Amino acid sequence: MASLKETIAAKIAPAREELRSVLESHGEKTISEVSVRQLYGGLRGVKGLVTETSALDPEEGIRFRGRSIPQLREQLPKASGGEEPLPEGLFYLLLTGDLPSAEDADAIRREWRRREGLPEYVKRTLDALPISTHPMTQFAIGILALQPASLMVRRYTEGIAKSDLWDPALEDAMNLIANLPHVAAYVYRRTYRDGDHLPPGPARLCWSGNFAHMLGFSSPEFAELMRLYLVLHSDHEGGNVSAHAVHLVGSSLSDPYRALASGINGLAGPLHGLANQEVLRWIRQMREALGGGTLTRDQVKKYCWETLSSGRVIPGYGHAVLRQTDPRYLAQRDFAQRHMADDELVQIVAMLYEIVPEILRQQGKAKNPWPNVDAHSGVLLVHYGLVEHEFFPVLFGVSRALGTLSSLVWDRALALPLERPKSVTTEWIRSWAELSATP
Ligand SMILES: CC(C)(COP(=O)(O)OP(=O)(O)OC[C@H]1O[C@@H](n2cnc3c(N)ncnc32)[C@H](O)[C@@H]1OP(=O)(O)O)[C@@H](O)C(=O)NCCC(=O)NCCS
Repeated sequence: MASLKETIAAKIAPAREELRSVLESHGEKTISEVSVRQLYGGLRGVKGLVTETSALDPEEGIRFRGRSIPQLREQLPKASGGEEPLPEGLFYLLLTGDLPSAEDADAIRREWRRREGLPEYVKRTLDALPISTHPMTQFAIGILALQPASLMVRRYTEGIAKSDLWDPALEDAMNLIANLPHVAAYVYRRTYRDGDHLPPGPARLCWSGNFAHMLGFSSPEFAELMRLYLVLHSDHEGGNVSAHAVHLVGSSLSDPYRALASGINGLAGPLHGLANQEVLRWIRQMREALGGGTLTRDQVKKYCWETLSSGRVIPGYGHAVLRQTDPRYLAQRDFAQRHMADDELVQIVAMLYEIVPEILRQQGKAKNPWPNVDAHSGVLLVHYGLVEHEFFPVLFGVSRALGTLSSLVWDRALALPLERPKSVTTEWIRSWAELSATP
């Protein structure tokens, strides 16, 4: 069986040749035009990046290397006795484009488990932070604290050819992914369990199972949820804030640790990955405001309108690209129906699905009234006892590393250049528009 690195290495020359030939045949063709509105509007819809690991269709949702979420759940290798796909297999698919065998996924599991272990100084760095520091800030600091171990930096200093940088970038990505659950679990246990840390579990545990173990959740069902969660949040093509940040920062040949920390900081915004904490906070506030009993549809509708009229968004709904219910939401809904159909919070989430889209349509602002991934994830975690909603984005961040670091390895393999779009001023736009209007 070829190793992961050998498999990638064999694909690099053909991929470089493909890129050369696309540029030679089509390099001067125009894909996107940019309106002034788009320039001020976050470049929505402007095709301005190349990302191979996944692509997002507004109607159908995400495909990872061409495979939909239902296909991933069916086709990727599973843990023994489990039904959900292993993130190890997804990582193999994202990096190589090939569906992994059970042996391929297991080889990655062994590699990640072999590479795990936080240096003591990283723990001391985290311990120095006030306990009230948001878990996402702690997580980003933990990632940066690991950065002195970067092989890419060492090789660069030794004078490695630019075309070979993908190799130490892959090593950094593997070491980093192996240790992300450790940083995250350390943050969780110091923040919410009085620093009562748990050592890693037995070597046979998969990456997600060991993560669940270090967080302190031993139910096999929670490990199943972790596998699904860590697969679903991994990648959402290249233009979302976290993926774009990793790509952008990496384009300066900044190493994977620094690039990922930037992505995590972007993910920490409430319009992006922090929305999962906001969903739970909002549901909790709604229950409290409505007296805590069983909620009626009319009460929920009224609360939704109050949220909107106070100028806030309904968290977990809407999307910059999607125009349908997010298939990641549907996968989690399916998990909920199979494992916890009677859970009270799950039933509230189901009620919101029946109510919120119509309200957002009536309000007439959101282009997409349907739920996104964040609308469902929190209540699944709460069901198993992971109730601290400020920690939820960290789980998203652990998962998002899989997609963004896979892309980063390919950015270096294809020797993509520094990203440097041209910016203009409003004054420039005015005079340009007046000039273009002159007959
Ligand atoms: C995801 C999100 C940031 C996309 O933003 P976007 O691409 O600008 O979305 P739209 O083009 O549909 O926004 C148009 C308007 O509808 C509003 N809108 C979008 N989603 C909304 C929601 N869930 N609740 C209320 N208003 C919403 C926007 O705030 C915007 O209002 P404005 O013109 O006053 O600024 C947005 O839908 C949102 O804020 N959702 C809630 C947060 C969330 O769930 N984030 C997780 C994303 S995976």
